[in-house]
Amino acid sequence: MTTVKFPDDFKWGTATAAYQIEGAYDEGNRAPSIWDTFAKTPGKVLNGDTGDVACDSYHRIDEDIRLLKELNVDVYRFSIAWPRIIPQGRGEVNAEGIAYYEELIDKLIANGIEPFVTLYHWDLPQSLQDEGGWENRATIDAFVAYSEAVFHAFNGKVKKWITLNEPWCISILSNYIGEHAPGKQDLQTALDVAHHILVAHGKSVKRFRELAIEGEIGYAPNTEWRTPYSTSPEDVLATQLRSGSFNEWFLSPVLKGEYPELLMNWYEKKGFTVKIEPGDMDIISQPIDFLGINYYTGSFIRHASGNDIFDSEEISSSLGKTDFNWNIYADGFYQVLSWITATYGQIPIYITENGACYEADLVDGKVNDEARINFLRDHIMALHRAISSGVPVKGYMVWSLMDNFEWAFGYSKPFGLVHIDFNTLERTPKESYYWYKQLSSSNQLEV
Ligand code: BGC
Repeated sequence: MTTVKFPDDFKWGTATAAYQIEGAYDEGNRAPSIWDTFAKTPGKVLNGDTGDVACDSYHRIDEDIRLLKELNVDVYRFSIAWPRIIPQGRGEVNAEGIAYYEELIDKLIANGIEPFVTLYHWDLPQSLQDEGGWENRATIDAFVAYSEAVFHAFNGKVKKWITLNEPWCISILSNYIGEHAPGKQDLQTALDVAHHILVAHGKSVKRFRELAIEGEIGYAPNTEWRTPYSTSPEDVLATQLRSGSFNEWFLSPVLKGEYPELLMNWYEKKGFTVKIEPGDMDIISQPIDFLGINYYTGSFIRHASGNDIFDSEEISSSLGKTDFNWNIYADGFYQVLSWITATYGQIPIYITENGACYEADLVDGKVNDEARINFLRDHIMALHRAISSGVPVKGYMVWSLMDNFEWAFGYSKPFGLVHIDFNTLERTPKESYYWYKQLSSSNQLEV
């Protein structure tokens, strides 16, 4: 047995998002978001599941905090629902929305758990979508006004802020692939959305500084690690393009003030444009205090003429798979973190999401999810390797505290450390919960 120790001030935590756990979709003056509309559109979400009830966390603050406290975590990452704070997207701040999150934040702090707040985890107010949503540049200022309302409400209590969660999902997955709300399938729309959300991020950071809000602000893109299948120039190019569209496209504007040139040229060659207005890149690249990194998977890529816009394809490999059919690529986690530091310098990093979908039944009060434990252990070991080689990672948050509404897959894909019975809403910690508790309590792994 070897003991693998983490830095003394390393922070362990878990993550969730509002629409995935809160439920209470029509309470406290909340108005619909694009996810309410999408989930209620037949055929969009598996089994017709919706977030109407979800884990009912809106009514179970104490129960959820007990689980976090018992887990011995330092931080809890959750998101604030814009449609609870400014239900119509613009205008009046809803006192009931503020009161709900205030209670959550106060109770977390009282229990010694630091709140890590995401401002936007995909639940755009439907009334803004009715005006064009993120395709419409006017949504940028609506987001800034919303973030300002939240900054003011929780200044001094929340010290860690994240503007956006997973900009690739907000733009490409939701507007080109069409798997997430609002479900469009047009690359130009997706590129417009990507640019607007980046400007919204930058403007919100700028406002945060102008208002002298306490604490630190960052941003949480999702990353994947892609390895060329061979060293042939075609395979290498296909990999650079695929990777670039996922990683650099959302990192370089923020950290370098520019879009990756290779990809800009590629998109232009294919007839798409990135509509940059004067001053946009300066706004997008406002200095941030930390980078939130979400990592789940990776793959091997080779050239495949006409297969997709990048003439690329993912090849089936010997990598194992989770129950979401995602490749298990722990070494990719090490690679992506090393690449980020080599490319963008020593910006502090928090792993704001990492975890896996594994199905495991509740039997005699126990959920034996050994596969999740193995996944987490391998990834946390890769993380440790990255830290040892000089990547400044300050904390790690498991996705997710509990099973929840897994977007287009509804309640069919459990990612939680805590099992939820979606009929009774009863919470049962899984074996992985107790394993993670041991890690967060001792700050070390025995391997
Ligand atoms: C998202 C979560 C999601 C998880 C698993 C991330 O893409 O931020 O909301 O549940 O991955 O798919």
